[in-house]
Amino acid sequence: MKFLAIAALFAGAVSGLASSHLIPGAQIIPAKDTAALRKVGAHGRKYPDRRTVTIRPSKNNTDDVSDDFLWGIKQANHGGRLLLKKGKTYIIGKKLNLSFLDNIEVQLEGEIKFTDDIEYWQANNFYYDFQKSITFWVWGGQDIKIFGSGTLNGNGQEWYNAFAGREILDSSNTFYRPILFLTDNATRVSVEGITQLNSPCWTNFFVRTNDVSFDHVFINAYSTNASALPKNTDGFDSLNVNGLRVTNTRIDIGDDCFSPKPNTSNIFVQNLWCNNTHGVSMGSIGQYSGVQDIIEHAYIENVTLLNGQNGARLKAWAGQDVGYGRINNITYRNIHIENTDNPVVLDQCYFNVNATECAAYPSSVNITNIVFDNIYGTSSGKEGKVVVDLTCSPNAVCSDIHLSNIDITSPAGSPPEIVCDGIDGDIGVECVSSADAE
Ligand SMILES: *[C@@H]1O[C@H](CO)[C@@H](O)[C@H](O)[C@H]1NC(C)=O
Ligand SMILES: *[C@@H]1O[C@H](CO)[C@@H](O)[C@H](O)[C@H]1NC(C)=O
Ligand SMILES: *[C@@H]1O[C@H](CO)[C@@H](O)[C@H](O)[C@H]1NC(C)=O
Ligand SMILES: *[C@@H]1O[C@H](CO)[C@@H](O)[C@H](O)[C@H]1NC(C)=O
Ligand SMILES: *[C@@H]1O[C@H](CO)[C@@H](O)[C@H](O)[C@H]1NC(C)=O
Ligand SMILES: *[C@@H]1O[C@H](CO)[C@@H](O)[C@H](O)[C@H]1NC(C)=O
Ligand SMILES: *[C@@H]1O[C@H](CO)[C@@H](O)[C@H](O)[C@H]1NC(C)=O
Ligand SMILES: *[C@@H]1O[C@H](CO)[C@@H](O)[C@H](O)[C@H]1NC(C)=O
Ligand SMILES: *[C@@H]1O[C@H](CO)[C@@H](O)[C@H](O)[C@H]1NC(C)=O
Ligand SMILES: *[C@@H]1O[C@H](CO)[C@@H](O)[C@H](O)[C@H]1NC(C)=O
Repeated sequence: MKFLAIAALFAGAVSGLASSHLIPGAQIIPAKDTAALRKVGAHGRKYPDRRTVTIRPSKNNTDDVSDDFLWGIKQANHGGRLLLKKGKTYIIGKKLNLSFLDNIEVQLEGEIKFTDDIEYWQANNFYYDFQKSITFWVWGGQDIKIFGSGTLNGNGQEWYNAFAGREILDSSNTFYRPILFLTDNATRVSVEGITQLNSPCWTNFFVRTNDVSFDHVFINAYSTNASALPKNTDGFDSLNVNGLRVTNTRIDIGDDCFSPKPNTSNIFVQNLWCNNTHGVSMGSIGQYSGVQDIIEHAYIENVTLLNGQNGARLKAWAGQDVGYGRINNITYRNIHIENTDNPVVLDQCYFNVNATECAAYPSSVNITNIVFDNIYGTSSGKEGKVVVDLTCSPNAVCSDIHLSNIDITSPAGSPPEIVCDGIDGDIGVECVSSADAE
């Protein structure tokens, strides 16, 4: 131990000669120093070598290295890489504004873990009006790549314990919980290989962002306390985003697996696996009074959805003082669904608004040009024989909705039923009105 510590100091001192402003425990390795890059685990990985910055890891769970981290990000900005070493933990206990990025890589082999000081984070965060979202940090700028086999850990257990019994969408809720990864005003963001663990609230939220892609990421949220399960730990949410790609990703969380929100276009999802989720949803949109929201041009292919509340879903808000908009040009193809309450659903009376209220103030979100092709598996039987439920609002247009190769069975009996209320034209399969469904 002692020898290693001295060696590390020495290494720091040597690099210190090359770069005048090193902080303790940090190192900056030039791109051409292959031997030194190999030694720290930054050579021969996925991308060409770059000037690589390392910072000291945390010594324990309260050793906050957020100042070091910010320093490292600044040093690596404009063409370099920040390496977070394998086997090391980096504790972040202060909010970070990383809005200034321009051509940076973060190689995450170790673990970035946030403190669970609820009092601190509720007083210090970045706040967004949309669904009263807060976050630990904001990533913005352009050409941001995060890759590696490490973990981004939201350390959510204390948050789950404290939030038990509350509801995020209650207008009276003031107990806000941070989002694990948030981009704002960013262009070309890619995240590859990492695990995102136990976010206190949504796992990813992209705001005013263009071209964001996730590949080979694993997202998981679990609680060790049976009376305080993770809530609202959605895999992916977005707002005012153009270009959102998620491929080869596995998600096991208790809320939406993938759910782009207002003004998201050009969405591509392939080879996604979701366990215990609320499904792959377009929306919800149309929540805010007088505001127009749009989701369009999405292609969702080869998704497995197990043990969920919903499978493939389109959702919009109804009620007094809601907005309007459209969900348009969405394809769901080759979707395998098992043991799921609502395998395929078009819901324009989202959340806890009651049926009377929805009937009196129906949604004005149009739903057009939708394809559900090759959707197969089983429902949970919770909705009886109904395996597909498409119920359009009387105040909206639902047209050009096409179903083909639908093979979903229900343990509640056969034949399985497809409900279609208020949909214009032929949907391509036999269907019944909800009044006649069993
Ligand atoms: C954690 O590490 C910091 C920095 O070395 C030290 O000041 C603190 O006493 C340590 N805390 C515990 C609980 O060991
Ligand atoms: C983040 O810092 C930038 C300056 O780098 C500033 O313009 C921006 O307002 C800050 N963002 C927040 C949310 O504080
Ligand atoms: C968005 O980022 C660009 C630089 O990438 C900056 O010039 C602009 O001011 C930022 N806009 C906002 C609203 O922060
Ligand atoms: C589990 O969560 C409940 C509900 O918040 C809480 O009362 C209890 O203290 C938690 N248990 C543990 C071991 O933290
Ligand atoms: C579909 O996705 C699964 C992962 O959920 C993957 O194992 C499989 O290879 C994919 N199938 C095709 C045809 O790409
Ligand atoms: C999916 O979730 C169920 C609990 O609903 C769990 O028993 C199962 O192990 C999970 N499947 C996988 C492959 O992780
Ligand atoms: C969506 O975009 C429209 C402009 O088309 C804008 O008026 C609206 O505020 C945006 N919605 C949200 C929730 O930001
Ligand atoms: C529908 O969306 C796809 C992307 O999924 C896009 O390629 C196509 O051009 C869109 N169609 C129309 C008519 O905009
Ligand atoms: C919804 O459809 C109606 C009837 O075609 C149309 O007048 C309205 O503009 C559409 N709304 C949106 C947001 O596209
Ligand atoms: C439905 O919700 C409205 C508005 O919150 C409420 O006034 C009404 O009593 C509710 N009706 C039923 C049948 O629950």
